[in-house]
Amino acid sequence: MHHGVGDGEKEENIDYRASFRLVRELMRTRLGGFALAFLFLIFATAVNLVNPVIAKTILDSVIPAHDSTRLVVYSVMYAANIFLSLVFNYLLYIQLVKTGQKLIVSLKKKLLDHLFTLGMDFYSENPVGKLSARVQSDTGTLYELFTETAVTIFKDIFMFIAVFVIMFFYNRELTMLLMPVFPVILLIVWLFVKLSSPLFVKSRKIMAEITGWLTEQLNGIEVLQAYNREENAASHMHELNERKFRAEYHAELYGVVFFLGIFALQPVSTAAVFGAGGIQVLHGKLTVGVLIMFILYITQLFEPIFRFSEHISIIQRSFSAAHRLSRLLDVKPSVCEVPEPCDIDSIKKGIEFRNVWMRYRENSPWVLRNISFSLEKGHSIAIAGETGGGKTSLANLLFRFYDFQKGSVLVDGMDIRQLSFRSLRSVFGLIQQDIYLFPGTIMENLKMMDSSIPDSRVMDAIKIMGLEGFFRKLPLSMTVVEKGQNLSIGEKQVIALARALVLDQEFLVLDEATSHMDPYTERVVTGAVQRLLKHKTLIIIAHRLSTIRNVDRILMISGGELKESGTHDELIAAGGLYADYYRLQSGMSVKTEIGGNIEENINISGENMAGGTDEIRA
Ligand SMILES: Nc1ncnc2c1ncn2[C@@H]1O[C@H](COP(=O)(O)OP(=O)(O)OP(=O)(O)O)[C@@H](O)[C@H]1O
Ligand SMILES: [Mg+2]
Repeated sequence: MHHGVGDGEKEENIDYRASFRLVRELMRTRLGGFALAFLFLIFATAVNLVNPVIAKTILDSVIPAHDSTRLVVYSVMYAANIFLSLVFNYLLYIQLVKTGQKLIVSLKKKLLDHLFTLGMDFYSENPVGKLSARVQSDTGTLYELFTETAVTIFKDIFMFIAVFVIMFFYNRELTMLLMPVFPVILLIVWLFVKLSSPLFVKSRKIMAEITGWLTEQLNGIEVLQAYNREENAASHMHELNERKFRAEYHAELYGVVFFLGIFALQPVSTAAVFGAGGIQVLHGKLTVGVLIMFILYITQLFEPIFRFSEHISIIQRSFSAAHRLSRLLDVKPSVCEVPEPCDIDSIKKGIEFRNVWMRYRENSPWVLRNISFSLEKGHSIAIAGETGGGKTSLANLLFRFYDFQKGSVLVDGMDIRQLSFRSLRSVFGLIQQDIYLFPGTIMENLKMMDSSIPDSRVMDAIKIMGLEGFFRKLPLSMTVVEKGQNLSIGEKQVIALARALVLDQEFLVLDEATSHMDPYTERVVTGAVQRLLKHKTLIIIAHRLSTIRNVDRILMISGGELKESGTHDELIAAGGLYADYYRLQSGMSVKTEIGGNIEENINISGENMAGGTDEIRA
């Protein structure tokens, strides 16, 4: 399955039908707002159309009649008309901005709701930087379409047709005189679109590349600095910008030539009308008033044409934005709830894995092979084994971040796929290997941003886990910055442990990362885990075997298979994989399956056995 959305390569082929469907769907949600705007639009344009007629009346009947009162009245009407047009335009834009804003807000909500349903497989293929840029910039482009562009396009088309009809009505001959101008204009427009649109597409593509690339560089700023790669990054950025500039420069160049071409056509048409109309006036077939009216209308006729190039590029841009958004909205979550999922608020008996096989992609190797085990409520198990063995993958199945392909996972004897996400994720708690904290205070993070949880519950949890001392040193009011960068990994681990108890989830999965802790903090955490063992059902994924001696059962996983299972003493007595790991971590010499002959007497001194698993890999 491929979930990449809007990868750029496919952007040239805009699916106009899909884009149009999205645009229409969106407009339908705000039909009333747009209808009102359309009404204002008609008024604003109609008012504009009246002035040349007033000019004609003044010239043809008022001045010849020497009627000074009517002259004043018509002049005032001329000014009042402009004022009225301002008022209608004001109303129009306000109405459109309001409607457009509301529409974009609900579009963003729709996108966000959708993004939240998508699974981890989607996010592993679509970098967040690109996604958030998409949500921001593509909705921004659509906003432009719905407000500014849509209105001017309608206005222009409306005005163009109306002006043409009025001119035709007053003088067929003069109007026909303008006809040869239109094929020329069409040719210029066609040439412009043909030449410039690939350049616009190119510049947009580079733009997306720049955004995505910059996000990645800034996310990895530490690595960038540590390896002295800033200059390379800067020069790459410079090169991208150069390319973008070149594409845009050429597109703009075409734009200017186009504009000037059309610009030249206006005086030519005006001159033709002056000439031909002048002769008609001389022959008494045309009044001066109608001639002036024509000249005024020509200006109004050319205005929409001038804006045409702008419209075309905005329409292209917004349709490709709509296309990308509709593709994003079309992505189906790979892991779904059943139509009528069961809700549970607690687990009565326990969970069971039965011959579970799992892999991440259709043709990739199995990550879990035929795994079976069960865990009763109130008991605890530990899962240990080599790096990349499948421990985290196994735990992820309980949260249905991914689905397994064969076998079954049962919760109280019920197929896990029958349960609602809500129930699963409220009975199971997860303390991940790389803990993510949100910006806010430690207290807020302990409550997982749920302000309905009273402080006292947090205090109780801290007391139960014996972490009072720890949180005296690390005050609850302290502000955590983005990604929890101002805390050590060990501190984050402690916070995550306490959070699990505050949120009161019954079954906790602890994907340990104790290798990051100093002996003191490790003892604090181990102590906290020991206390948790008394209150909760625990699955501890152990990277450090010293922390799991007290669990009821230990599972050894290697290469996706369950190799051994039993208590600490049983496994040590069996002298298998676990026994090897254990001896290796406590600094004794062993021969292992994975490492082959590992150097004798690796001395991992005393308490500080940092990076236990790394040692095994070495
Ligand atoms: N999102 C993913 N997409 C594809 N493959 C993955 C994904 N996550 C993990 N894998 C692969 O699945 C295998 C098992 O990974 P897993 O994270 O379950 O290992 P682990 O036992 O938790 O390792 P560690 O002890 O290092 O945490 C690895 O080979 C890994 O490369
Ligand atoms: Mg893992």
